[in-house]
Amino acid sequence: MKDALGSVQSALVLGGTSDIALAIVRRLVDDRCARVVLAGRDPGGLEKAAAGLSREGVEVATTPFDADDAEHHAAQIAAIFAEHGDLDLVLLAFGVLGTQDGFDADPASASRVVHTNLGGAVSASLAVAQQFRRQGHGTLVVLSSVAAERARKSNYVYGATKAGLDAFAQGLGDALAPLGIDVMVVRPGFVHTRMTEGMDAQPFATTPDAVADAVVRGLRRGATTVWAPGILRWVFAVMRHLPRPVWRIVSAR
Ligand SMILES: NC(=O)c1ccc[n+]([C@@H]2O[C@H](COP(=O)([O-])OP(=O)(O)OC[C@H]3O[C@@H](n4cnc5c(N)ncnc54)[C@H](OP(=O)(O)O)[C@@H]3O)[C@@H](O)[C@H]2O)c1
Repeated sequence: MKDALGSVQSALVLGGTSDIALAIVRRLVDDRCARVVLAGRDPGGLEKAAAGLSREGVEVATTPFDADDAEHHAAQIAAIFAEHGDLDLVLLAFGVLGTQDGFDADPASASRVVHTNLGGAVSASLAVAQQFRRQGHGTLVVLSSVAAERARKSNYVYGATKAGLDAFAQGLGDALAPLGIDVMVVRPGFVHTRMTEGMDAQPFATTPDAVADAVVRGLRRGATTVWAPGILRWVFAVMRHLPRPVWRIVSAR
């Protein structure tokens, strides 16, 4: 359960080596989160991430989790809750960007990214919802993207996965709200992480720490949607209504 001041005391990260997720967890730990479970597919990367979080009074565990293995999500996530006790917050952070050129050359690879970013996220989130219903509380934080707001011709497969995930997370949040369970949708713009390494930065590019600050502020005020940076909310309020021929030019970079 959150403590008397509303701070998260325990958290599970699905995609436990994500740069953005780890920045968020560092903020939570600074804010008295004492139990963290990092779940992912790279044991070495998870151990390294766990070592980076370890400090006195904080328990950090790692556990295998593959977003593509939807058949086992319900059982795996139930087992994590059974082993580690109630978890206040689950951060759904896994995702794959890919390149549009790569997808054009190998259509099956596009289907795999859809499977990970959307299919895996849907089954994992529903499995988390089962556990939140059972324990009677919880907050699911979903890393969507501004790419969900409007598909760009340079990465529309990724954008389509995020649009699907964003819509799903909003619906899940509306369904769970009467039970006192929260779902926060986070829409970062371009963030300097391993995922975007070597790419040209987009306007309003930001850092994992800045996204983490926005998420923590959002958690404190019970936000259902967080933009990072916040100005992108207003930028995309305009962008999403631009006529398609204009959008083609604006989004060409
Ligand atoms: N960076 C940006 O500009 C940006 C902007 C908006 C939204 N986002 C979203 O934010 C989230 C985190 O991204 P990031 O920037 O922190 O990138 P990142 O550091 O590359 O993290 C991506 C994470 O996804 C995990 N992952 C990928 N496929 C997986 C699978 N099949 N099973 C389990 N884990 C898997 C990776 O694990 P491995 O270590 O095993 O590869 C890694 O932990 C993603 O959902 C991304 O789409 C990023």
